[in-house]
Amino acid sequence: MAGRPASLSAREEGSFAYITIKDRTPQILTKAIDTLHRHKSEFFEKHGERGVEAEKKAISLLSKLRNELQTDKPIVPLVEKFVDTDIWNQYLEYQQSLLNESDGKPRWFYSPWLFVECYMYRRLHEAIIQSPPIDDFDVFKESKDQNFFESQESVIALCTHLQALASAVEGLDENQLKNEFFKLLQISLWGNRCDLSLSGGETSSQKTNIINSLEDLKPFILVNDLERLWSLLTKCKKTREKVPVTRVDIVLDNSGFELVTDLVLADFLLSSKLATEIHFYGKMIPWFVSDTTVRDFNWLIEQVKRSDHKWMSKCGTDWENYIKTGRWVYHDHIFWTLPHEFCAMSQVAPDLYAELQKAHLILFKGDLNYRKLTGDRKWEFTVSFHQALSGFHPAPLCSIRTLKAEVQVGLQPGQGERLAASEPGWLTCGKYGIFQFDGPL
Ligand code: F6P
Ligand code: MG
Repeated sequence: MAGRPASLSAREEGSFAYITIKDRTPQILTKAIDTLHRHKSEFFEKHGERGVEAEKKAISLLSKLRNELQTDKPIVPLVEKFVDTDIWNQYLEYQQSLLNESDGKPRWFYSPWLFVECYMYRRLHEAIIQSPPIDDFDVFKESKDQNFFESQESVIALCTHLQALASAVEGLDENQLKNEFFKLLQISLWGNRCDLSLSGGETSSQKTNIINSLEDLKPFILVNDLERLWSLLTKCKKTREKVPVTRVDIVLDNSGFELVTDLVLADFLLSSKLATEIHFYGKMIPWFVSDTTVRDFNWLIEQVKRSDHKWMSKCGTDWENYIKTGRWVYHDHIFWTLPHEFCAMSQVAPDLYAELQKAHLILFKGDLNYRKLTGDRKWEFTVSFHQALSGFHPAPLCSIRTLKAEVQVGLQPGQGERLAASEPGWLTCGKYGIFQFDGPL
C-alpha cells in the first residue's frame, strides 16, 4: 500500500524495538531453556530416555536460535512441516524482495520488528515440534498459570462483583447499566498490564482489587471511545426484535488475570443483554509468553469452576454452560500467529475475515493486536485510527490496549508531544491505555 510510513525496526539503536531484540528476547529464550531443564525429570518419568534426549535437542535448538539472534544472523526459512510453514517461508521471501541488493538478507536487527519478533516465537515453537515426544510442551504454561494463582484475590473480588451485578442487572436504569459496562471495560483494559512478555517472562500479576483503582487510573486513558461502544450496543439491543442476534467478538490476548477480566466482561454482556453471543479467538501455538491458547482457556475456566469460593465457582459453572449452549464460542485460527498486519487478513485468511464480518463489534485486546492493526509503523500521533487500519474494516472494532510499543495514532494535536516531554517512556511503560474505536458514527 502506497504512502504508508516505514515499519518499526530494531535498526534504530535505543528504540524500544532495539532493546526488545537485544535484551528482552534473549532473556525470554534463556527462561524457556531453564524451564525445559527444570522439567527434565518429568520428561524422563513420562517418556524415559527418549524424553531426556528430546529435552536436550530442544535446548540445543533454542541455544542456536539465541545465538543467531544475538549475532544478527540472516533469518532462515522454517524447516519443520506445520500448517503455516509455507506461508511463513513465503513471507520471508517477501521480506527479502523488499530489500536492495546491498542490504543482504532479512536480519534480526534490520528487518521489521513485528516480523522478527513473531518469527522468534515461531522458531521457538519449531524447536519444540522438532523434539518429539515432548512436542506439545508449552514452555510458558507455568508462568501463565502462576500469573493466575498470584492474582487470586483480585479474581475473587471480580467474580463476587460480577455475581452481585448479575442478580441486580434487571433492576438497573440506563445510566447505572452504562456505568457498570464502562467499569468492566476498564477492568479489562487494565488487565492488559499483566502481560508477561514486557517483563521478559517474569511474573506480572494483579495483586490488588482493581475495581477500587478505576477512578485513579482514568487520567491514564489517552483515547476514550467508550460512549461509542455503548451507543452501538444499545442500538442493537433496541432493535433486537428485528435482529435477534447481537454478536460481540473478542480477540483475546493474555491468559491469567487478563483472561478473567475478559470473561467477566463477556458474561456481563450476556446478562445485561447488550449482546446475545460472544466469540473468542485465541492462539494456536504458545505466543508472546502469556497469550491464551485453547488449553489455557479451558484450564482457566476449570480452575475458576473448581474454586472453593462460592461466587468464583458459580462463574466457572456459568462459563462452562455458556460454552455448552453455544452462547460463547471459541475459535482457533493460524492467522493470529502469523507475522502479517491485519490489513492483509482478507487476502491471507479470507475465511477468518468472513467470520469477523459476522460480528456487530470486535474487541481487540492488547498491545500486539494494536501493532498488527496499525501495521507497527511510524505513524504520526495525529493520523486517524481509520487511516492506520489501511483498509481493515471487517466490522465496527475497538482496540483495548495498554501502550507497550512505540506506535500510537488518533491522538489530539500536541497530546503526544506533551506526554513525551513529561514522561519519555510513556509509549512503552504499560501505564497508559486506550479504547480506540473505528466504525460508523
Ligand atoms: O512490549 C513488549 C512486547 O513484547 C511487545 O512486543 C508486544 O507488543 C507486547 O509486549 C505484548 O503485549 P500484549 O500482551 O499486550 O500484546
Ligand atoms: Mg500478549
